[in-house]
Amino acid sequence: MYIVILAGGSGTRFWPLSRAARPKQLISITGDRTMLQRTVERVLPLHPKRILVITNQIQAEETELQLSRYRDVPIDVIAEPSARNTAPAIGLAAAIIAAHDPTGIMAVLPADHFIKDEESLRATLVHAGHAARNGYLVTLGIMPSRPETGYGYIEADLELRGDGPFPVRRFVEKPPLVQAIRYLDEGNFFWNSGMFIWRCDTILSEIAFYLPDLGRALSGISFTSDVWELSDLAAQIKAMYDSIESVSIDYAVMEKSSKVQVVPVEMGWSDVGSWSALPEVVAPDASGTVCINAAGHVAIDSTDCLIYADGKVVATVGVKGLVVVSTPDALLVCDRERAQDVKKVVEQLAERG
Ligand code: GDD
Ligand code: MG
Repeated sequence: MYIVILAGGSGTRFWPLSRAARPKQLISITGDRTMLQRTVERVLPLHPKRILVITNQIQAEETELQLSRYRDVPIDVIAEPSARNTAPAIGLAAAIIAAHDPTGIMAVLPADHFIKDEESLRATLVHAGHAARNGYLVTLGIMPSRPETGYGYIEADLELRGDGPFPVRRFVEKPPLVQAIRYLDEGNFFWNSGMFIWRCDTILSEIAFYLPDLGRALSGISFTSDVWELSDLAAQIKAMYDSIESVSIDYAVMEKSSKVQVVPVEMGWSDVGSWSALPEVVAPDASGTVCINAAGHVAIDSTDCLIYADGKVVATVGVKGLVVVSTPDALLVCDRERAQDVKKVVEQLAERG
């Protein structure tokens, strides 16, 4: 199995810990490894044939640095010249692998998710790989727990019981709230985890059908005899990215294809979309507060706070539901309910220059 790690997101909702050159996947929120490193380490027991990490030019240097500790593993970093969302990144990875192994199985993994039960993920990837052999686009589905509108929803045909894979009736990317509430009630909808398993030739032919411009650009790439000499491809990738549209694989292919199947998985998954998602990955203390990286936390009549400190002692007095994030050059104080709006801070700062 080949592993393709998507690591080109901007992660603005974790400001001030994350920055343009160090977005969510390149920081460590809870431990000594960054999210990218944890993504790599959790698949190493599967002995992947190769790992391709797709990022962009701003983050490439830090990405290479973080991966340099895995010297014994064949890892390639591809730096996209500009952000074109996930369909081109996935298509490019598939074309590169296919030049070497046309029917190779690739698993696409986002670099910025938390997974508690890594053994469950690995077993599910192997299981999904078998379905992918038969020419399906297999997604890993998570049992939804709230009407989250930031995820894709997969309606499964659950008549065939067991572990799946189940045929998919519909894939709906980021539905409006009323629709998400209905899906939650119906019981046969899963969240799309954003992890996909398929044969390279399957995804390339679906891309060629639903995104013909991207398909043409990909089939026009000419490879040298050593496919893994990726620096040879830089000029071709630049020309391709200048001409293709920006679109996610979810909207472009998964919503439309009739070859989608889902394998449900329970693995303690969270995509940790913002500071308010921290309690999904770190257990709160008795006051309902999560406090990370502080020399200590003194809470006087304060509850339900989310605190990230750079080694300082933090004290909170008489407050409820605050996000407090301290880094050497910035401080965030935010209502926990407004954690999604932290991205607006980044936008304003960018406008000011
Ligand atoms: N290389 C590269 N280039 N990577 C990218 C780019 C890009 O232009 N844009 C995003 N990524 C990476 C992100 O870093 C992340 O690892 C992954 O691709 C998914 O992109 P997101 O931008 O985080 O997508 P999303 O969270 O809005 O939605 C996706 O994930 C949800 C689950 O977390 C969709 O697949 C949803 O259907 C899904 O529910
Ligand atoms: Mg995401």
